[in-house]
Amino acid sequence: MDKIIVKGGPALQGEVKVSGAKNAALPILASSLLADGVSTYRNVPDLVDVGTMLKVLNTMGCEAERLTGRQKNVCQVGVNGHITPEAPYDLVKTMRASVLVLGPLVARYGRARVSMPGGCAIGARPIDQHLKGLKALGAEITLTEGYVEARAKHLKGGTVNFDLITVTGTENVMMAAVLAKGRTVLENCAREPEIEELARVLNKMGAKIEGAGTSVITIDGVDSLRPVDHAILPDRIEAGTLLVAAAISGGDVLVKHAVPEHLEAVVMKLREAGCVITAENGGMRLKAPKGIHPVDVTTTEHPGFPTDMQAQLMVLMCVASGTSVISENIFENRFMHVAELHRMGADITIQGPTAVVKGVKKLSGAPVMATDLRASASLILAGLRAEGRTEVSRVYHLDRGYERLERKLRSLGADIRRVKA
Ligand code: EPU
Repeated sequence: MDKIIVKGGPALQGEVKVSGAKNAALPILASSLLADGVSTYRNVPDLVDVGTMLKVLNTMGCEAERLTGRQKNVCQVGVNGHITPEAPYDLVKTMRASVLVLGPLVARYGRARVSMPGGCAIGARPIDQHLKGLKALGAEITLTEGYVEARAKHLKGGTVNFDLITVTGTENVMMAAVLAKGRTVLENCAREPEIEELARVLNKMGAKIEGAGTSVITIDGVDSLRPVDHAILPDRIEAGTLLVAAAISGGDVLVKHAVPEHLEAVVMKLREAGCVITAENGGMRLKAPKGIHPVDVTTTEHPGFPTDMQAQLMVLMCVASGTSVISENIFENRFMHVAELHRMGADITIQGPTAVVKGVKKLSGAPVMATDLRASASLILAGLRAEGRTEVSRVYHLDRGYERLERKLRSLGADIRRVKA
């Protein structure tokens, strides 16, 4: 298994480009099941999770592939109507987001059999709201041998009021509703930019969706959809991670393609910490302050502070000039980076869903272990600042969601390399 070795010190300087958004690419690839023909997606990040979604689609009988060479960020998915509507355990267990095929399959093929995703490192993560939404559209749901089966001759529009805000739940039910008969109203929806992006793609395919990006989405079902050609929006979490990299290293970096409107809550906190952030040249520039001020953060659904940036902000607070309080409200077990950060000299106390972070004068490099995607990014950020050598193992977590992060950081002057095991 690969490791990443970082030697702390250099202040990052220069320009770096953000890749396409993982959490938009995954539902969009799943949405290709809704139409016959070949869909082309551009700016698709080359990530392990995207590869898993391509495998899920191929297993069902689609022709899903990533092009090569200069076109390596282009993926094409061909669908010819002959689909085995089933996502097997072996793939779903490696990526929960495989469940995103459930909505499109039942809408288009009247039947879906998808391995029930289990919990994962960051929480139990049930899918009851996905199922509640599909039931409201007339799907009959059964659970047998660890698989969820959804059946419906033809879905019918209905009203769904989600009991809690769920990103992939909103996406799954939205994808089911586009081919349902009549009007569907989804209430208490997630408002993430990735949901707006999925709606944009579905509308390009011929769907009639209004309100995506707000908490009420209205969908008028259509009889059929056509394939699409679409470039995926930039990854706001990768952009936020790169901004924190600039901040923690004391640098000055232009993060190209970062979209300020997608990062408002993150930018507000980084400014409170003393960073100077400006929108510039189709991106965002961060100039680090001499010293980082402590800031309190509570993660909430978009447009609040994203849980996917909590670990990265916590690392910055580890070197702030005072105490910060960070509360995690979305996932019940998303502080696993804390034990590893302790090994680097951080002073963090966990009290239930809250971490009290006392800034320390210095972090020291250490061998540390990544436990999930965003935790692995946070350990690399800590390594940029720590004295000496940090060796991050289990970087396969990182490769699920960051496109060659170490190369991007090296291009900004970081002393970082990947070693093949
Ligand atoms: N939840 C339920 N029932 C449901 C669905 C969700 O109880 O039916 C709970 C979850 O257990 C969690 C909360 O609701 O406590 C929010 O979960 P949500 O469904 O919104 O999360 P998700 O859709 O599974 C997506 C992202 C995550 C991101 C979360 C929150 C994708 C593919 N994944 O997950 O991304 O953290 O939204 O913003 O879009 C990551 O990229 O590192 C990542 C984990």
